[in-house]
Amino acid sequence: MPCAYGLHDIQGETVVDLGCGAGFDIFQAANKIGKTGKAIGIDMSEEMLARARLNAAKSSVTNVEFHQSRINTLPLPAESVDCVISNCVINLVPESDKPTVFSEIFRVLKAGGRVAISDILEKKPMGDAMRQDMGLLVGCISGASAVEDGYEKPAFKVRFGPLKDGHEPILLTAGYQDIVIIDKKHDLNIYKISEVFDIRDKQIASSTDSATTSSGCCCGNGTSLKKGDASRIAEIDFNEWVGSFDIYALKADNAPKEATS
Ligand SMILES: C[S@@+](CC[C@H](N)C(=O)[O-])C[C@H]1O[C@@H](n2cnc3c(N)ncnc32)[C@H](O)[C@@H]1O
Repeated sequence: MPCAYGLHDIQGETVVDLGCGAGFDIFQAANKIGKTGKAIGIDMSEEMLARARLNAAKSSVTNVEFHQSRINTLPLPAESVDCVISNCVINLVPESDKPTVFSEIFRVLKAGGRVAISDILEKKPMGDAMRQDMGLLVGCISGASAVEDGYEKPAFKVRFGPLKDGHEPILLTAGYQDIVIIDKKHDLNIYKISEVFDIRDKQIASSTDSATTSSGCCCGNGTSLKKGDASRIAEIDFNEWVGSFDIYALKADNAPKEATS
């Protein structure tokens, strides 16, 4: 996430990672901002946070803290953060909570603060069958927000949010400047390779709301992939429907107190 760390001196900055998982990105950020900076990992899964804290204890990093929270209710003061990062999390947030994820990002960012999100976005409307497919949801595909046609045009206002009937696309519009959205054109079908699905199967039980699930998940909302899911999903060309995108934006210095779409 090059823009996340920018070209200016970022020593002493506060960086927040939304859905930090075991903490890999926030440890990198912690190193870049130095001992005077503060790196904050947020995740709703106590199991992932336990891994993150274990990783922190094993490392020499002293400027990291972790908080258990959903990312649509951040336990952080307004205008306290220089940079918000997030990798492959917002697609997992229930659609009804996505608007408040973005308003929370806006609230906690200082004026001039930066957003650097990497996530899966929908390029072509998936339709209800795909949207409701739990295997695709825990596989980080069917929860993807839509990216509007023309996102590559320089003057285009990025809209990162559901474009389904009755929903307004969500923000990254008013209050932000220098918005850049990049389709990394990764081959997402790689996730269908059986070893990868095997790995994901093992991960799928932890980052969920379900108290009954027990171990190490990195995705999802309470649903485990089953063997049958893998063969069904193998038929779908992920690259046709979704892409892996980087989204960068600056909160304008003169931004209004609340974001608008
Ligand atoms: C695919 S993993 C990504 C982890 C990390 N960002 C990385 O790149 O390694 C998704 C993470 O988001 C967390 N997560 C999913 N939905 C969340 C929510 N609504 N609030 C907070 N954390 C959430 C999960 O617990 C999990 O750790």
